[in-house]
Amino acid sequence: MTIDIFWRIPTHGEPSSHRARQPFRGDWFPGNDNLSKAGLGGGGKDGFTYIDYLAEIAHAAEISGFQGGLIPSFPMTDEPWVISSVLARETRTFRFMIPFQPGFLNPVTAARMTASLQRATGGRALYNIITGGGGPQQLWWGDTVGHDDRYTRTTEFLDIVRGVWNGGPFSYDGKFYHVEDAGLVDPLSKEDFPEIYFSGSSDAALVSASKHADYYLTWLEPFDDLREKFRRVKEKTDALGRKIKCAVRVDIVARPTEEEAWEEVRRGFDSIDPAIIRQFLASSDGSESVGARRQRANRPTTLNSYKDLIVEPNVWSGFSLLRGGQTQGIVGSYQQVAGRLDELVQLGADAFILASTPHLEEAYRVGEEVLPLVRGHSAPALRKVG
Ligand SMILES: Cc1cc2nc3c(=O)[nH]c(=O)nc-3n(C[C@H](O)[C@H](O)[C@H](O)COP(=O)(O)O)c2cc1C
Repeated sequence: MTIDIFWRIPTHGEPSSHRARQPFRGDWFPGNDNLSKAGLGGGGKDGFTYIDYLAEIAHAAEISGFQGGLIPSFPMTDEPWVISSVLARETRTFRFMIPFQPGFLNPVTAARMTASLQRATGGRALYNIITGGGGPQQLWWGDTVGHDDRYTRTTEFLDIVRGVWNGGPFSYDGKFYHVEDAGLVDPLSKEDFPEIYFSGSSDAALVSASKHADYYLTWLEPFDDLREKFRRVKEKTDALGRKIKCAVRVDIVARPTEEEAWEEVRRGFDSIDPAIIRQFLASSDGSESVGARRQRANRPTTLNSYKDLIVEPNVWSGFSLLRGGQTQGIVGSYQQVAGRLDELVQLGADAFILASTPHLEEAYRVGEEVLPLVRGHSAPALRKVG
């Protein structure tokens, strides 16, 4: 069995460590107009910009054994299709996991965009289908469709992308889309269909995932909960006569010893503004996301030390305090982190998306020190470039 391991591209800037707060790397530091930091600060007199920094991370990840990277898509990030296209010519094996909300793109256009990217990169594009957390975040994008209907729209969208992929003619009459005699033309129609990673923890998400996903993607949760989640999604997919794999997106802090890893977390935690901690303890962000609610489930009511957020051996649920995003991640020595990833494989995981701050240096560290210890880790393949 082979395990695909991806890294992550911080398209929202990032600080230089878990202790630093300003995301100046990648040029996303609000008020960074004077581009005062030379080099990695983004731009400035040397002309070195955020995209050069992202390209460095992609290079570091591909050199040190990752399959590719997730390019996140939130209101506060750059746009992943564009970033992937720019990084494509800078890399050779790096695969681009592109998150997007199907509702925001026409499906035939999306098929054509994807086929062009496949053709230009030798098949290095992957989808991370996201269906949206709802609430204020959804309205930011101008989307008023309700939670379960959004998943119906996602399913219809993927029906059409598959339908037109090999040339059609394909017609479809759904609740959200109507297409007549559509199909990609040769040579676009000869490209490989992208692997589909699919996230969403609700029942509606599982219905859509079981029909279309190659990989069901989740954040890290308590290990027993993940065992049950994987079992459920695999059972639903088996019932449709398909097979699905599972993938876990997980932040890590890996160091030569466990003490050093926790010391890094402690220093990061001790540098957090108390206002951010109060906000963290005050639960909801108004989203309808079942996955986000599951992430919040183990939050303590008071928080005096980073130790209050240790939820099981080597699992810390304070990562969103250090850099936003998901809450649970793995902390430990190189062996311990690899050991916990192996345990997730035993529970049903087939792939990982790892991340650690700063993504450049940590790509090398994790690639060189942790990846070789993960059993079944697969080496990236050199693909033909179109
Ligand atoms: C690993 C992972 C990565 C995600 N990445 C993104 C993202 O980049 N952008 C986004 O808007 N939502 C992202 N999501 C959110 C989900 O795709 C989904 O929209 C959300 O969990 C709501 O669905 P649910 O109620 O079924 O959980 C991600 C979720 C997971 C598990």
